[in-house]
Amino acid sequence: MTTRRDFVRNIGLTAAGLSLLHPNNLLATPDPTTDRKIRLAIIGAGFRGQNHISLALRRTDTEIVAICDIDDRMLQRTANVFKKAGKPMPKVFTGDPHAYRKLLELKELDAIIIATPWEWHAPMILDALAAGIKYIGTEVVLGITLQDHWDVVHAAQQQKAHVMMLENVCYRRDVMAVLNMVRQNVFGEIVHLQGGYQHDLRGIKFNDGSNPPGPGAEFGDKAFSEARWRTEHSVHRNGDLYPTHGIGPVAMMIDINRGNRFVSLCSFSSKTRGLHEYILSKGGPSHPSARVNFALGDVVTTNIKCANGETILLQHDTNLPRPYSLGFRVQGTKGLWMDVNKSIYVEGASKNDEWDQAQIWYDKYDHPLWRRWSKDTENAGHGGMDFFVLHGFIEAAKRNAPTPMDVYDAAAWSAITPLSESSVSMGNERVDFPDFTSGQWMYRKNDFARGDDY
Ligand SMILES: NC(=O)c1ccc[n+]([C@@H]2O[C@H](COP(=O)([O-])OP(=O)(O)OC[C@H]3O[C@@H](n4cnc5c(N)ncnc54)[C@H](O)[C@@H]3O)[C@@H](O)[C@H]2O)c1
Repeated sequence: MTTRRDFVRNIGLTAAGLSLLHPNNLLATPDPTTDRKIRLAIIGAGFRGQNHISLALRRTDTEIVAICDIDDRMLQRTANVFKKAGKPMPKVFTGDPHAYRKLLELKELDAIIIATPWEWHAPMILDALAAGIKYIGTEVVLGITLQDHWDVVHAAQQQKAHVMMLENVCYRRDVMAVLNMVRQNVFGEIVHLQGGYQHDLRGIKFNDGSNPPGPGAEFGDKAFSEARWRTEHSVHRNGDLYPTHGIGPVAMMIDINRGNRFVSLCSFSSKTRGLHEYILSKGGPSHPSARVNFALGDVVTTNIKCANGETILLQHDTNLPRPYSLGFRVQGTKGLWMDVNKSIYVEGASKNDEWDQAQIWYDKYDHPLWRRWSKDTENAGHGGMDFFVLHGFIEAAKRNAPTPMDVYDAAAWSAITPLSESSVSMGNERVDFPDFTSGQWMYRKNDFARGDDY
């Protein structure tokens, strides 16, 4: 039987000529030269930026030519990262929030990485595109409003440039093994998926000294941590504020933007208690933050419907005590994976009505990328997946080729935030997704993590 998905895929193949015109293939003939050195600049050298810097410093094909940050203490920490790697500190741009524009005037840049607070991503990407930068890696998320996402998509098309959101969870080892299993049809046709961001961020939102560890971090001290910016989003916004770690991996498994797309969503937000209780327990009722009314519900759940009939359940849960978990579940007509209890069930292969230890399957279906590069992932951050996301970005830039995840992925995944905010504010109404590919989702191919190269 030909499913709608096969049909769409087949059109994709027979329309290979057509697909040359599609917006994924904006750059000229790929350059097969892979020994190029990429001249990279980093905007935002905070905790995440320093992680990218230390990984880039390990690569022989990358030279960091400039960095920009507006916080002297972060620049000092960054200088130590260079020192530790035995490399000189590159040009530094600092002094005011728009100092990065001077960095963008540098002539010799091949690529930039943006690792600033969320609200800076879209403006910085747009300025970088206007400056002619062809490879732009941005930390999650892409933008704040729906308009931000459209603006970035249109500007990237206009400039024939690549914008890759550095969604590292797509490269998690178990996630990639499951992707491999999905592609080999182990779970049958995929029907339902789940994911989310379930991470107790109370200590980060109120800087309890655990991030960063050490001095200078009194409870509620906004200096020198994500508390400087992340907390404000919980004060003013109610929706799934951080969807991409949960959605990216499952979107790749069901070919979103490549024969499939998100059609609509509906979000529900619970009452908000966690942050207030935390402030009371740490700072007492007279603490200034005890008067703040937080908009963000403690648990936000979003249901997404896809063009090929799958449903996705996304969860955002950052205000309550809980162990970290992204809560993945991938379920098809023959079986399913659940990451919380690390279990897999495949009808016919597993004992009837009994879970298998997922590790047995992970080992068997270990992704070729992990098999090839696992040595390079040592101490790379987040269990090694941070290596791959930078690797994919740099290798694409060296080849003048499309990035493994592109601007359409970034836009579709990140747009969940403003769409879920709309749904919540309208009493959980259904909200339609825009089609950032303008119909090209029917023809595009899923090239993510094909083979063992990048
Ligand atoms: N993918 C992941 O696993 C992961 C992990 C942590 C953070 N992140 C993302 O990385 C980004 C940064 O987070 P972080 O934890 O590094 O936060 P952070 O607060 O440690 O760092 C942000 C840095 O940006 C700098 N900055 C702010 N405005 C600036 C401007 N106008 N010009 C130049 N620099 C500016 C700040 O001074 C700070 O050093 C966020 O988008 C966050 O969501 C991703």
